Amino acid sequence: MKTYQLTVLSGDGIGPEVVDVALDVLNIVSEQANIKFNVTEKLIGGCAFEKVGHPLPQDTLDACLKSDAVLLGAVGAPKWDGLPHELKPEQALLGLRKALGLFSNLRPAKVYNALVNASSLKPSIVGGSDVMVVRELTGGIYFSKPRGMDELKGWNTLAYGKEEVDRIARVAFELAQKRKGQLTSVHKANVLESSQFWRDCVNALQPEYPDVSLSEMYVDNAAMQLVRDPKQFDVIVTQNLFGDILSDIAAMITGSLGMLPSASMGTKYAMYEPVHGSAPEIAGTNQANPIATIESIAMMLEYTFNKPECARKINHAVEQVLKDGYRTKDIADENSTMVSTSEMRNHIIEKLN
Ligand code: IPM
Ligand code: MN
Repeated sequence: MKTYQLTVLSGDGIGPEVVDVALDVLNIVSEQANIKFNVTEKLIGGCAFEKVGHPLPQDTLDACLKSDAVLLGAVGAPKWDGLPHELKPEQALLGLRKALGLFSNLRPAKVYNALVNASSLKPSIVGGSDVMVVRELTGGIYFSKPRGMDELKGWNTLAYGKEEVDRIARVAFELAQKRKGQLTSVHKANVLESSQFWRDCVNALQPEYPDVSLSEMYVDNAAMQLVRDPKQFDVIVTQNLFGDILSDIAAMITGSLGMLPSASMGTKYAMYEPVHGSAPEIAGTNQANPIATIESIAMMLEYTFNKPECARKINHAVEQVLKDGYRTKDIADENSTMVSTSEMRNHIIEKLN
């Protein structure tokens, strides 16, 4: 039996609760598929700062560099907002993405039929939509220099190099080829030189992917179009900050941020995490929606371990439970049965067995 190294970083807030459930799911599915995971748990974020004085301890980074995949819960809480910039929990996540070279972030926002009424948008608008946001994750305004802050101003830089744009564009073109063959490059080329550059790089690659139809959209319009008519999109490719914003918008098409998984990949490493944050206000109350983290495990099994059949099994179990009407608080309505995190876990596990 093949054994893989999995580093688990539960982090802060609801992170540990949703990760625990996802690991239970992984246990069952991997046993059925005859693969084994050697799980190493490490600290990250505010809890790491509390215990060892740094949000991304060297020991955590070392473990990640030795693993086949990383599973992350969430980091951050308002109580650590006052820390110096480099000690903030969010910096640990950004540092880890950079150190592992995870330039490509896939955030699939797919609407489950059972949840068309859970969105704040009309069922006729969201029903059947399936958008993949491909977000550049290790460049752009999150990382470019110079950056800083003094008494009189704060500043950041937005720059993209050709290699950075090309490699994320290729990921998006290739994904579009496997999906509906439609790619939308989102930028702000009417205002930003970095976006004109982005647009030119992406357009120049198009001839290599004749089966993909490429269109472009300004980011403000894309934000509007996502809520006006999400079904027009297949794959969206965009820079780091725009992808951060558009993926939260796309999440609401699915009903809740608690539904959105993600995969962050580079040439050597991969990390899987729910798109939602640490939700400190509900941490420890057994209310969190574990589906985003469970679906992140499905992405991991598919992309890193090449077990699409395991991923489909998980997708199917989740879908069945939603069809049966069980919902955590974030997606519940008057026609469904509201369940806790652990009840949701039990229902999904029952379907898997
Ligand atoms: C995300 C989060 C992070 C980001 C934060 C926590 C640093 O919002 O993964 O979308 O901005 O990338
Ligand atoms: Mn975000």
